[in-house]
Amino acid sequence: MNTLKEYAAKVNERLEQIPAVVEDGRFQIEQMPGLLSRSMRYSLSAGGKRLRPSMLLAAVDMLGGRTEDALDFACAVEMIHTYSLVHDDLPAMDNDTLRRGRPTNHVLFGEGQAILAGDGLLNCAFETMLDAACAHPDRAADYMLAMREIARGAGVTGMIAGQVMDLFCERGHTGDADALEYIQYGKTACMFIYPLRAAARLCRAGEGELQALTDYGRAFGLLFQATDDLLDVTGVEEKMGKTLGKDAQSGKLTCVSAYGIEGTRALVARLHAQALSAVGRFPGDGAFFKTLVDEMVNRTI
Ligand code: IPE
Ligand code: IPE
Ligand code: MG
Ligand code: MG
Ligand code: MG
Repeated sequence: MNTLKEYAAKVNERLEQIPAVVEDGRFQIEQMPGLLSRSMRYSLSAGGKRLRPSMLLAAVDMLGGRTEDALDFACAVEMIHTYSLVHDDLPAMDNDTLRRGRPTNHVLFGEGQAILAGDGLLNCAFETMLDAACAHPDRAADYMLAMREIARGAGVTGMIAGQVMDLFCERGHTGDADALEYIQYGKTACMFIYPLRAAARLCRAGEGELQALTDYGRAFGLLFQATDDLLDVTGVEEKMGKTLGKDAQSGKLTCVSAYGIEGTRALVARLHAQALSAVGRFPGDGAFFKTLVDEMVNRTI
């Protein structure tokens, strides 16, 4: 077992080797325009916490798999997450100008290019996973199942659906507790649940392990978004690396708008307990995942 920092370092090292992100190709047929690789790399290497890919690798470790075999999947998850942030920040969505401590992608490269950088990251994620599957034909079925998990989590019944509902409920147009949970399950929890399920597929885990990881991912993801909503009100901008106070300003349906600060803290405590109870069903001791969720309860970044 490694620490979050160690898993994140492995992810960063591997991301540096992914050709589309590294190459600064000139505009030629079959070569990617340099502007595209620069804009993709700008957001990818801006210093995210790398939580999602690190959790995928930690789950593979816990299930007795080889993390080297899962690294391309971890990178793919981070590319999809980064694309979702680039698009989330666009003027047509949350209209944010600061991300990961830097100007947002569209501020630097323009809106059209930021949309394309997001598209590029999403496509590159699937190219990377497919390349990994093609390089291991003997394990193609496992890789395919893992890829399907990632596609579901990021897709139209997962993250994208949550983002749609998030926009739809803006400015109090509609929204109750069910809508709030739909948003937060979709836009955030799915990007934790499904990478963990992908790890289970890569390791041919059994149903019990798959379910325990799913339950943990859901509680962890909902807790993560509840603390994101809290930090939008109580956090420090320099630490978070993004403009705070935006949720209220945009009339977002969030845990804080629905339950208040104290109500959100109580929700975080309940989700923490749910995540710990799932950890109890993990193979091995699940120490990485217990420590991680403990740290998230009082996070400041
Ligand atoms: C931000 O995710 C988006 C949310 C789901 C709240 P992170 O807080 O994990 O962002 P990075 O990757 O560390 O920048
Ligand atoms: C973003 O949620 C979720 C996704 C990008 C899928 P938020 O809009 O709350 O995230 P921040 O606060 O901008 O990081
Ligand atoms: Mg948003
Ligand atoms: Mg946002
Ligand atoms: Mg937020």
